[in-house]
Amino acid sequence: MKVIVTRNYEEMCQKAARIIAAQVTLKPDSVLGLATGSTPVGIYQDLVKKYQEDRLDFSEVCTVNLDEYIGLDRENPQSYRYFMNHNLFDHVNIPKQYTYVPNGLSSDPEDECEDYELLIQQLGGVDLQLLGIGGNGHIGFNEPAESFAEETHVTNLTASTIEANSRFFGEGEEVPKQAITMGIGTIMQAKKILLVANGESKAQAIYDTLYGPVSPNCPASILRFHQDVTVIVDEAAFKKVTEQQ
Ligand code: GLP
Repeated sequence: MKVIVTRNYEEMCQKAARIIAAQVTLKPDSVLGLATGSTPVGIYQDLVKKYQEDRLDFSEVCTVNLDEYIGLDRENPQSYRYFMNHNLFDHVNIPKQYTYVPNGLSSDPEDECEDYELLIQQLGGVDLQLLGIGGNGHIGFNEPAESFAEETHVTNLTASTIEANSRFFGEGEEVPKQAITMGIGTIMQAKKILLVANGESKAQAIYDTLYGPVSPNCPASILRFHQDVTVIVDEAAFKKVTEQQ
């Protein structure tokens, strides 16, 4: 794994955006795997800037998102589809029909998972997968578990994830308890992976990812078995590693 430690969140975002921009420049028809959460927001802002100021061209790009809540309509501001439109897709020249997010309203979520897995294969696989990380080491919505889930699947969110994500929901709005997520196997098939994290709340998860046992207790730890992973973290998220050195 290549690990880059930045001074702050802004620098983390700039470096990650540069890697994504380089990918799109070198392979204009890239399939980008994208992530939601607060961490990538600044990266998407930088990409929008690169589109507006440097004419970074997304016209041939396809995107597949990691996950989506079950039960939220695409127009619901808490849905990941809405998040992606709002933070990136509405502001660059990517054809919307080539932006894929699992359908959280499917009448048959299991079927939706199979279709999503197939779709990724039909697109030729993910060229570059962007990942955030949960405080408990989850990637996508692959929560700590007994074993690594291979393919796209329906998952029950842990109490800690529901609690962490409740900050995005308004009062009286319930955080969904289930989601559709790419599996660990799906993520590991990406040709390149870019993991980003900032802030002290991610310090333990980053330590476990880089130095803990490779175990489904910290799903991100499996990334150590991938051949092309870049981890970009700010100093706060790297704190536990620094303390051990
Ligand atoms: C969610 C998403 C993950 C994301 C994680 C961290 O649960 N499913 O893909 O990495 O939260 O979110 P944040 O970046 O807001 O800390």
